[in-house]
Amino acid sequence: MAFSFHMGPVIFTSKRLLFRQFNIDDAALIHHMNSDPLVLKYVHELPSTPERAFERLQNSILPHYNQYGYGRWAVQLKEGNDFIGWCGLKFRPERKETDLGYRFIPSYWGNGYASEAAMACLEYGFHHLLLNRITATAHVKNTASLRIIQKCNMQYLRDEVVDHCPVKSFEKLKSE
Ligand SMILES: CC(C)(COP(=O)(O)OP(=O)(O)OC[C@H]1O[C@@H](n2cnc3c(N)ncnc32)[C@H](O)[C@@H]1OP(=O)(O)O)[C@@H](O)C(=O)NCCC(=O)NCCS
Repeated sequence: MAFSFHMGPVIFTSKRLLFRQFNIDDAALIHHMNSDPLVLKYVHELPSTPERAFERLQNSILPHYNQYGYGRWAVQLKEGNDFIGWCGLKFRPERKETDLGYRFIPSYWGNGYASEAAMACLEYGFHHLLLNRITATAHVKNTASLRIIQKCNMQYLRDEVVDHCPVKSFEKLKSE
């Protein structure tokens, strides 16, 4: 499906990808991605509606940029500009930690984009934002996500329950 969207400023790039801030006009992109049941299989979220996608953008994604200086970024292909999903670093005030997360449109899976994006976000977090520690969690059955975390060289911490999901938690320290 083709969407027209306004590009916000590009924050950083990797070999094949560019990372930009979401803006309020991106709700349709988020709804399109979240409407595929495959995308929500391992995350505890209600099915997407246009209204929920808008609320998520307005209340959860956009405020983080000003509040913490970073957040989940829209990811686009450098070649062709397709929006392929999001990846980024989210500050969790209740845990006082920053977590790495990613979500991509299934038709773009299997190209190594998520791995490339995750590594680029860690690099940006440690070397540009000067974070000392970044965490990640993945559902115990989410093999693709666990593989990405492993490829990023993150260290296993524990099994726990987050948002009603059994997850494995990991961390990476700046020096690693
Ligand atoms: C997790 C997700 C981002 C992975 O996207 P992707 O495009 O397949 O990622 P990559 O192409 O970078 O591949 C990741 C690795 O996992 C492996 N992999 C992918 N799907 C797999 C599966 N079903 N079983 C086992 N390994 C799998 C790939 O082979 C690759 O490893 P490799 O480089 O050693 O070959 C994608 O599945 C997604 O968006 N899922 C929905 C949202 C989600 O669950 N996010 C994570 C929440 S913790």
